[in-house]
Amino acid sequence: MRRTALVLVVLAGALVLAAAGCGGGEEQVSATETTPSLEGDPVAGKAVYTGASACIGCHALADAGATATVGPNLDDTMPSAALVVDRVTNGQGGMPPFGNTLTEQQIADVAAYISSVAGK
Ligand code: HEC
Repeated sequence: MRRTALVLVVLAGALVLAAAGCGGGEEQVSATETTPSLEGDPVAGKAVYTGASACIGCHALADAGATATVGPNLDDTMPSAALVVDRVTNGQGGMPPFGNTLTEQQIADVAAYISSVAGK
């Protein structure tokens, strides 16, 4: 995945240089600095929700078979993916932060999962 992205960036840079001659330098820099944003995988996210991170122990969510009432019922609040990423990373009030125990990819995954099933 990363390797393919790198090859594409290098190719794009070469094309810019070929097309623009000496003037292409700036565009090449912006192409290599582009950071791909993480895309969450809802299937992997369900495993995060029901796994060791224990979301399931605090938050009701019908799709996960979760009925706990420590934190808000996510079927009711239907949080945006951005809110899930923020809460899971930083915590708030009675919600512990998971920024050090889950990877950014796992957090993106659980956010994608909740967005895809909450309220259903
Ligand atoms: C120890 C219990 C606990 C665990 C474990 C927990 N949460 Fe929470 N969560 C809470 C509490 C309590 C709040 C309310 C915090 C506040 O706003 O004061 C909350 C808030 C949230 C919110 C914001 C809800 C809203 O709409 O305002 C989201 C989203 C969320 N949690 C997702 C998760 C996910 C995903 C996990 C697993 C990675 C998780 N939580 C694990 C207790 C928990």
